[in-house]
Amino acid sequence: MSTHPAVVTVGPGLPLEVHQIPTPAPTANQIRVRCEWTASTPLDLHQADGGLLVTHPQILGDGIAGTVVEIGPDVSKYKVGDKVFGFAWRGPAEKAHQEYVVAPEFLFGKIPHHVTMQQAVTVPNNFVTAWHTFTKDFGFELPWPKPERYIPGERGGWILIWGGSSSVGQYALQILKWYGYTNIIATASKTHHEKLYGYGATKCFDYRDPGVEKAIVDFTDPNGGIHFVLDCIGSLNGSVVPISRIVRPQSSTKVAILLPIIVKDAAEGVKPIYEMDVEKATQWPEGVHVVGVRTHFYLDNQFLAEHLQSDIMPECLAQGMIEPNEQVIVEGETMLQRAEKALKVLREKKVSGARLVWRVSDEV
Ligand SMILES: NC(=O)c1ccc[n+]([C@@H]2O[C@H](COP(=O)([O-])OP(=O)(O)OC[C@H]3O[C@@H](n4cnc5c(N)ncnc54)[C@H](OP(=O)(O)O)[C@@H]3O)[C@@H](O)[C@H]2O)c1
Repeated sequence: MSTHPAVVTVGPGLPLEVHQIPTPAPTANQIRVRCEWTASTPLDLHQADGGLLVTHPQILGDGIAGTVVEIGPDVSKYKVGDKVFGFAWRGPAEKAHQEYVVAPEFLFGKIPHHVTMQQAVTVPNNFVTAWHTFTKDFGFELPWPKPERYIPGERGGWILIWGGSSSVGQYALQILKWYGYTNIIATASKTHHEKLYGYGATKCFDYRDPGVEKAIVDFTDPNGGIHFVLDCIGSLNGSVVPISRIVRPQSSTKVAILLPIIVKDAAEGVKPIYEMDVEKATQWPEGVHVVGVRTHFYLDNQFLAEHLQSDIMPECLAQGMIEPNEQVIVEGETMLQRAEKALKVLREKKVSGARLVWRVSDEV
């Protein structure tokens, strides 16, 4: 069997390694994709430094942009040579930080002609995260295709996107805007406010402002209160605790927190600490519904499994309903250097309003 290189963790906090691993042939509805560009995300750091839900050695990455090089006998959407992007994670063959990925065709969409692979690879995992959270945890309808003159049901009260400049936050705002939601507030550093207003936020708050909690309460309380909170950050002291102080008892507010909750951040030589139990993490007011988001379960929804990545995501990108995150291209001579450098940037918290992307193969 032929082999290809993959970036793997060998233990929490240990330097990454590149291993040669077998290249499987696609069967049934699977396609084999030459992964040309990938992204490094906070989950890679949670897994590499924190060992979160990982059995080492583990191949990292879940965002893929590349070219179809081989198809299984039941594949109907793609042919060899198609340019595709996707979010895949369910086993070694599907992970992204390797030269070839083999996964079912429903985990990919075609990259629109005017979109580069660097741009496309910023989309899949967090577009899926935002869409899945809105429909599953908030019960938003997001009908597809969107009916003409569609008006969303959830119009009273505010939707708070905490961490609007994060990758997830940017896609969340753009999806809500496209569906006609107008009752959205967001937190982010000031430098990103203008962009987030363009993405549909009615009012932005600077999360670094010591008076941010009061400012949000003063703004929302007289205007129906907050009905939904999407915590795109999941930092115990940076988002979870502030949100718990903003939401009102008996308000029936729904709070969705992207897991894991980060109790202690990863840093050079420091092992991070995570919490997966949202109820245990802090004291929540009575009558507030708090859930932890795990996008890895989105395939439980048959409609989303079939359509979210293969139809909805590429169509949203092609029609300009969403624009990709800005990209910071991580340079390095080898695949290993690029992967390590990206983790270092994440560890040093230098990502702001953009996605770290890098070329996977050493052979151009
Ligand atoms: N469980 C799941 O299914 C799931 C899925 C996707 C993501 N996640 C998790 O969600 C988190 C975010 O992921 P991501 O890829 O979107 O992150 P990201 O884009 O790398 O996040 C970077 C952004 O976070 C913002 N930020 C940092 N601390 C903040 C705070 N205290 N309040 C508000 N904003 C803050 C920064 O904002 P400024 O630049 O404005 O300062 C920066 O732009 C990660 O922990 C990830 O693992 C979980």
